[in-house]
Amino acid sequence: MKESMEFTYRKAEYCDIIDIAKLVTDLLGTCNLNLNKSILENNIDSISKDINNYYVCLYNNKVIGACGLSDVIKKDRYNLKLENIREILYFVVNKKYQGLGIGTKLLNMCSNESKENIIYEAWGDNGKYVNSKFVLERCGYKLYKDLGKNYYKSHNYCNECVNRYKECDECLAQIWIKQNNYKGTEING
Ligand SMILES: CC(C)(COP(=O)(O)OP(=O)(O)OC[C@H]1O[C@@H](n2cnc3c(N)ncnc32)[C@H](O)[C@@H]1OP(=O)(O)O)[C@@H](O)C(=O)NCCC(=O)NCCS
Repeated sequence: MKESMEFTYRKAEYCDIIDIAKLVTDLLGTCNLNLNKSILENNIDSISKDINNYYVCLYNNKVIGACGLSDVIKKDRYNLKLENIREILYFVVNKKYQGLGIGTKLLNMCSNESKENIIYEAWGDNGKYVNSKFVLERCGYKLYKDLGKNYYKSHNYCNECVNRYKECDECLAQIWIKQNNYKGTEING
């Protein structure tokens, strides 16, 4: 039955911000560590800034998946020493609709938008591999840097995570990359 469901994909609009923020709150928590605000408020803030770079999937006019792409990033937060890169932002699909190819489609839509190389900070709470490993591989991403199992804890993300009420021993953090064959220097040179 799920195979016959009709999903619609489009660029996100301002009216989608709260729905995307709710999905992120339910599936991830937040990466925005402003402790004066709730997780949902932090997600609304972050998503609002980049809403023009998000794609969404809808079912019955309801947002059930989203993926965003940053502009070219200025800060080298992961010490990668890479230039001219963009980053995948929140990437979520409602649990009820996972495993149907929606994540793959959304990640491809974002990735194909960029001529720059794209990095993706992937997390893993299943003890084995990052949650999006299979989608990433299918979309042409490769593991670039392992940030270690202590990354989120040491950067104080745990209280803002969807798993904040669980007892977690460790959590994977990895940087994956998709190279889009773009060399900024060649264009300028
Ligand atoms: C990651 C996420 C966005 C993927 O969305 P999705 O719609 O389920 O993705 P897809 O259906 O396109 O692909 C999932 C694929 O992984 C495969 N997969 C999952 N676990 C697997 C495993 N253990 N072994 C092999 N394949 C596996 C699925 O079978 C599916 O492949 P298929 O289409 O060939 O069957 C979704 O799982 C999600 O929202 N997770 C919670 C939030 C999150 O962790 N976001 C990512 C942050 S790193």
